[in-house]
Amino acid sequence: MRLKLNRFNPQKNIVSLNNINKFYGNKLILNQINLDVFNSEFITILGPSGCGKTTLLRIIAGFEKIDSGQIIIDDETVNEQVPEKRTVNTVFQSYALFPHMNVFENVAFGLKMKRVKKEDIKTKVINTLKMVQLESYYDKMPSQLSGGQQQRVAIARAVINEPKVLLLDESLSALDYKLRKRMQLELKQLQRKLGITFIFVTHDQEEALSMSDRIVVLKNGQIEQIGSPKEIYENPNNLFVAKFIGEINIFDAIVVNRVNDEYILINIESKQKKIKYSKPVKNGQKLKVLLRPEDIKIKEIKDIKNLDFVDTFLGHVNERTYKGSTLESIIELESGLKIMVSEFFNEDEPDVDHKIGQKVSVDWIENWEVILENENENENNNTIL
Ligand SMILES: Nc1ncnc2c1ncn2[C@@H]1O[C@H](COP(=O)(O)OP(=O)(O)OP(=O)(O)O)[C@@H](O)[C@H]1O
Ligand SMILES: [Mg+2]
Repeated sequence: MRLKLNRFNPQKNIVSLNNINKFYGNKLILNQINLDVFNSEFITILGPSGCGKTTLLRIIAGFEKIDSGQIIIDDETVNEQVPEKRTVNTVFQSYALFPHMNVFENVAFGLKMKRVKKEDIKTKVINTLKMVQLESYYDKMPSQLSGGQQQRVAIARAVINEPKVLLLDESLSALDYKLRKRMQLELKQLQRKLGITFIFVTHDQEEALSMSDRIVVLKNGQIEQIGSPKEIYENPNNLFVAKFIGEINIFDAIVVNRVNDEYILINIESKQKKIKYSKPVKNGQKLKVLLRPEDIKIKEIKDIKNLDFVDTFLGHVNERTYKGSTLESIIELESGLKIMVSEFFNEDEPDVDHKIGQKVSVDWIENWEVILENENENENNNTIL
């Protein structure tokens, strides 16, 4: 077992998918998938139910054939290669441990099949169980283990064969919230220690953000965006990605004119605002301005006469939800649009604890907005489950 602290190497591809198409019957399930997975990275396939995540894993593992395209694993084209020959291993959603075998026997199974010497099997199994902190459970049956422990056995059973790539399909989804959080951390640490490439599938955006080096957002069998969690969250390519990853407020805007190379003037919520946007625009063009709840600043209005609200929006607090360290407020703007704002509690700013009905001004820090060209929002809505 290779034990080394690892950062992924973007220079070397371990898996390349080139122009992959996959049909079930006459339904196109994967549509022109192009994806390079780097050696030793933790990459997550994220998307709503039915978008093709499991199918993508199954074609990498070799359980499903593709209709066109090329799959390369470790510099070898494997389109026709059977699953046993591929240097990948899969941990399925249901861990599928052998119920009549104890933990040791479950983990040893792959090595036994390969006719590894008994003594070597013992050393390897013990070392692998140590890695997932289950060495004292070696003689327990799967039915005597918790969900999290079973999941760790399944991972131990997969990594003992030293695959170059580990495919994990919704491996944490059966666990309760606390255990799931702990396993997320453990899995990430294990991946770093082993240096094995993890291709992880989830429909949970929070899980994807916290665990991955890169995220691939999939929708209806097509890749919508590939990027680091920060890129995906802060610079979504389109409305689907923006809405799928976390909460986001969407404003309609119209271009008034270009001010200079960097800035344009827009009409938004009946106000004119200067925003940074260097792509070409036409006067009158529709845009969407997107803001995360934590990027919006609100200020309670005590005395409306003394303040200048020329380019800030006005509204009132419609709802408030206490979230521990933050307060989430729904603000209804004068136009009737409801937006979500998330503020951290701060002892020095007693204003954060707003009353329902409180009048507020709404603004944001310049340049924190995401601007997208107008696209049909409803079309996107339908696909989010
Ligand atoms: N063996 C099959 N035969 C026919 N259609 C299939 C088969 N397997 C999957 N599909 C269809 O392919 C599409 C993608 O399924 P897939 O299991 O890859 O989705 P998924 O993204 O993993 O969803 P989930 O998050 O619910 O697990 C779905 O529309 C599904 O109904
Ligand atoms: Mg699935």
